[in-house]
Amino acid sequence: MIRSGKQIFGLAITLLVALLPFDIQAQFPGLAPAKHHPWSDKSLSADQRADMVIKEMTLDEKIQLLHGPGWAALMAKPESGPLTRAISVLGFIPGIPRLGIPDLQMTDSNQGISLAGTGGRYATALPSGEAMAAAWDPKLSWDIGTMLGHEMRDLGFNMSLGSGINMIREPRNGRVFEYKGEDPLLAGTLAGQELKAEKALHLITDLKHYAVNDQDSGRIVANSIIDKRSMRESDLLAFEIALRDSGAGAIMCSYNRINGTYACENEYTLNEVLKKDFGFKGFVVSDWGGTQSTVKAALAGLDIEMPGNDSFGVPLKKAVESGQVPMDRLNDMVHRILRTEFDSGIVDDPPQPQSPNVMRGFQVAQETEERGAVLLKNDGNVLPLKASTIKSIAVIGGHADVGVMSGGGSSQVSPAGGNPVPPPPEIAKNPFAGFMLLEVYHRSAPLKGIEQKAPRAVVKFDPGTDPASAAALAKQSQVAIVFVTQHESEGVDLPNLSLPNNQDALIEAVAAANPHTIVVLETGGAVLMPWLDKVAGVVEAWYPGIRGSEAIANLLFGDVNPSGKLPLTFPKSEADIPHPIHLAPPKPDAEHPVPKLAGVPGLIGMAMGIGPSFDVHYDEGLKFGYKWYDAENKTPLFPFGFGLSYTTYAYSGLKADTSGGNSLQVSFNLKNTGSRAGEETAQVYLTMPTSTGEPPKRLIGWSKVALAPGEQKNVIVNVDPLLLSLFNVDKNGWEQVPGDYTVWVGGSSRELPLKTAVKLGGS
Ligand code: BGC
Repeated sequence: MIRSGKQIFGLAITLLVALLPFDIQAQFPGLAPAKHHPWSDKSLSADQRADMVIKEMTLDEKIQLLHGPGWAALMAKPESGPLTRAISVLGFIPGIPRLGIPDLQMTDSNQGISLAGTGGRYATALPSGEAMAAAWDPKLSWDIGTMLGHEMRDLGFNMSLGSGINMIREPRNGRVFEYKGEDPLLAGTLAGQELKAEKALHLITDLKHYAVNDQDSGRIVANSIIDKRSMRESDLLAFEIALRDSGAGAIMCSYNRINGTYACENEYTLNEVLKKDFGFKGFVVSDWGGTQSTVKAALAGLDIEMPGNDSFGVPLKKAVESGQVPMDRLNDMVHRILRTEFDSGIVDDPPQPQSPNVMRGFQVAQETEERGAVLLKNDGNVLPLKASTIKSIAVIGGHADVGVMSGGGSSQVSPAGGNPVPPPPEIAKNPFAGFMLLEVYHRSAPLKGIEQKAPRAVVKFDPGTDPASAAALAKQSQVAIVFVTQHESEGVDLPNLSLPNNQDALIEAVAAANPHTIVVLETGGAVLMPWLDKVAGVVEAWYPGIRGSEAIANLLFGDVNPSGKLPLTFPKSEADIPHPIHLAPPKPDAEHPVPKLAGVPGLIGMAMGIGPSFDVHYDEGLKFGYKWYDAENKTPLFPFGFGLSYTTYAYSGLKADTSGGNSLQVSFNLKNTGSRAGEETAQVYLTMPTSTGEPPKRLIGWSKVALAPGEQKNVIVNVDPLLLSLFNVDKNGWEQVPGDYTVWVGGSSRELPLKTAVKLGGS
């Protein structure tokens, strides 16, 4: 029986607690709602609010916002203090509760919310970055960003560490799978939409790895040598476009040096280009362990050291006290962080953790794969398979009976239900395996998808480890589908572009046994195909994500008409790429000792393959990717922008309107000339006057158009003025060169049926 007011109060509290869905504060104590402060006034600008907070801050509080506590401190599992609020050891910066400044809770997100961040909690495994890029679909990128944003918030994060948009200058780069192809307009536009969608959900977003971190082996000791114009028109242009379109709050500077200076203490790329020329108002965060100095880095434009405090902890405080780093610069660093926190909405609308919407994740993952897979070959219309008539199918290799491959490293998403492919013992024993070498599969078995599509057919699986046994199965079957894989991972580049583990021989053996052999590639990027002439069909499925099974089956059986186009060139041989010999870090010796690096703890250092410093000369400059093949007159195996469909398209009626020579609007007709509905990515390229010294052509726009059978649409592409210009290093600005230009339109960089001459650069 209730007797006193005190008891009634107690009961009310108990009931209230019981009614809460779960104890959010206990799980995510760093997410407590902000108390009211003068800067809580949302009608003030983000800059005004930041300035008001700064006035109240002590020096220690300012320094606290500029670095992480380090993994060692977080992994020690502190029982009290601010570090207990970290929801992952990956990336955490404690906020300042007395001022209502939230903790920064960061996660990688290049192909889903990463394993390191979630610590094994569920997150959707998306297809890889190249699959996203191959869809050429800004609307899909927006949907990907929305999905990622929701999952980040659901899991308690308020800052993402992606998207990665390094240019594919080195096709053997171990991180190709994370990036978005070899063209700055394509990569920048898609990342721009992805991050804009995340920001709309009140998250701090980030672009990485700034800049020219275009090979990963030895990334921390590599010195990327490249001229300014090439940098501005390629690698930096991707960032310029993505920043402009997304309003991203953070930029992650990379490990490597650029023209002799570390990217995280590089006055040119950080202060001059990013902060001055691009007008970036957010903050620069170092890649993990990529801070190499205190004063130099702070003065050159680095704002946050992650994940530790070797340079921006006590040393930065001392540098400020001694005047080596002026107080104004310190306040600028803090201002950049605070204004980004207000601008993004993480202060006013902190994440409210809940279970992620798995169904939304499935839908986006499947759509990405369906729109991003590329049909590379389809002789005699071997595809789509006819479910009603097909009697027997051999499914071979690639662990297709249990799952689909994913890329490794910091972007690795936790495999739901565990990795169905146990690692070989030598990898399981290797302490770095989890980070780099471990091949993780997501439990979405293509074999199941195929069986479901053809319930009346006999579908048999062979693991493909013995080419003769696979060939025997293929011989008895009407169709053979060979799944092949190439594992890529952060920290280590591929030894070459060949399929590993004897898979070329497997394909040859199967193709010799069955003329209806279809190869499904699960690769991070380009691979060589010595067997191409012998197989009937090839589908590039990239790393297909958690709905790979459904998406691949839909594509193979024609429920979905392939519409992906290559975001990078597939060469015929490594001799054809700009750097035929891959430059790995040299082995240390007396003359070439391992440099002393700040901020790189032993484990990470080893995972990064630290050796003596070495130069990577990007002498090809502007000519990389398709621009290289055009300039060198080399024929690629499959060109940039290429991808087949189950229908056909015709282009006609090109018009180019230059409005007096300053801008460009291109229009043309696109017709579906086949009998199936489909979507065509119509691409627009520009040849600049020869005097400009530009490569033969550059992508200046595209449109992905849905067409019913027989339907024709008039397509209009408005060209981004940046793409009509070149970067003049002497004037430090973009300029349009007057002269005769050629506009090309078509379905790939090497199939451009429409062409017209225009004059640009008028006044
Ligand atoms: C990677 C970054 C990543 C960071 C945190 C580094 O090794 O290069 O891309 O965001 O780790 O996981």
